[in-house]
Amino acid sequence: RILILDFGSQYTQLIARRVREAGVYCEIYACDCDPEAIRAFRPKGVILSGGPESVTFDATPRVPQLVFELGVPVLGICYGMQAMAFQMGGRVEPSSHKEFGYAQIRARGHSRLLQDIEDHASPEGWGLLDVWMSHGDRVSELPAGFKVIASTESAPIAGIGDDERRMYGLQFHPEVTHTAQGARILSRFVHEICGCAGDWTAGNIIDDAIERVRQQVGEDEVLLGLSGGVDSSVVAALLHKAIGDRLTCVFVDNGLLRQGEGDQVMATFAKHMGVRVIRVDAEDVFLSRLAGVTDPEQKRKIIGNTFIDVFDAEAAKLKNVQWLAQGTIYPDVIESAGAATGKAHVIKSHHNVGGLPADMKLKLVEPLRELFKDEVRKVGLELGLPADMVYRHPFPGPGLGVRILGEVKKDYADLLRPADHIFIEELRAHDLYDKVSQAFAVFLPVKSVGVTGDGRRYEYVIALRAVETIDFMTARWAHLPYDFLDLVSRRIINEIEGISRVTYDISGKPPATIEWE
Ligand code: XMP
Repeated sequence: RILILDFGSQYTQLIARRVREAGVYCEIYACDCDPEAIRAFRPKGVILSGGPESVTFDATPRVPQLVFELGVPVLGICYGMQAMAFQMGGRVEPSSHKEFGYAQIRARGHSRLLQDIEDHASPEGWGLLDVWMSHGDRVSELPAGFKVIASTESAPIAGIGDDERRMYGLQFHPEVTHTAQGARILSRFVHEICGCAGDWTAGNIIDDAIERVRQQVGEDEVLLGLSGGVDSSVVAALLHKAIGDRLTCVFVDNGLLRQGEGDQVMATFAKHMGVRVIRVDAEDVFLSRLAGVTDPEQKRKIIGNTFIDVFDAEAAKLKNVQWLAQGTIYPDVIESAGAATGKAHVIKSHHNVGGLPADMKLKLVEPLRELFKDEVRKVGLELGLPADMVYRHPFPGPGLGVRILGEVKKDYADLLRPADHIFIEELRAHDLYDKVSQAFAVFLPVKSVGVTGDGRRYEYVIALRAVETIDFMTARWAHLPYDFLDLVSRRIINEIEGISRVTYDISGKPPATIEWE
């Protein structure tokens, strides 16, 4: 396994993703973590990430000396290379010519790291690589024992290597997809230089997780709040395989789910897979507590608290349960403060343990804690979950509660559900569902005039929303074909009595958000 030391780069997670994609397990630790934790991890290689600081200043992060003493290969990227070069006796200085973005570097063929990896051959016999650069400083003097393995006009020392000690540094970012050969370079490092096997596959992840869950919970019973989302679904499938009937799932139907969702969850898990699922029909409680409430944040709070109340009441009936399972995944872990040490415990708010009765004293089991979303999906497929469940768009915890603007009423939810269903059904039929990141319908509680046949209608409005995004922090509205929007609009107005108009949301995020509330 590989250890990634994080110096604060926005790309650190990407390094981990690439290493895992190469079939090698890795974890991210903070660069100032306890060196003993590094030793205990027993890495077969260490990657030093980039970072925003400059080693030319005194109070900036350094590589724990232990890393150079472990005798394992080290790859420094950007700041990681500069820190390594500096600490090994080289020189780093501010560059007169800062580089950000695409660059072409000359890679020298004699290093084990870059040998035979190139985008273009150059007349001088060097391989040329198209890479993504972002740096202000540069290495100006090699540390003893290192050779130059890559260079550009403005950074003659853009890559360094010592094949003897298996230490390498790259000024560019192999982890971003703009560096075309980046995946090959990282794969070369982890497989050939570090000697990692590449056996971190879905099948092995499952075997490993099952083994650990069995060890952790022994003969105890486990409770899981099943939402129908990807993470909790995969946890359910995994735990069922690990401990069978000692898993009990509680599925809360809050009346704010999509069309057919509750039945689908029951069909997949209870009927098909034989998981013990308790379905709690709590529509009335949720809707009565939401009556008269229009403020979005207040609605969220009510829905969250009601979930906890309902879940607790159900959990309290299960006397033998000692563990609460959660679908925490690796990005949740690293995003939380101080989590890079791998010690933080994140609790997803809608499975809030703090809300459980104090006398239950449940311990946490989180079998997906080390996995990225794409790994969770692969594991889900491998466990036999249907592909359309595993590749579903995200659905917010408060559900339709934040897609019905203003006060939430059952009548509104009953109009929104079929409209949303038509939109999603047509997206799938036209092969567009997987091309957008999230799509849904929103209910606008305003009335608008329409005409069908000879009759005048005065009914509600539905807005359609579809966005493309990588991280959901920014998004652009999806440029769906006009003919497609036309079809969806006609179907909604014709098939749903009570809707007289459909609009399409053309707001980006920012300035708008993805949800309407
Ligand atoms: P916004 O609307 O903030 O949404 O642009 C970004 C992503 O977060 C989801 N979202 C939520 N998820 N509880 C959730 O679990 C919420 O209260 C919530 N609000 C927004 C939204 O669906 C989108 O994927």
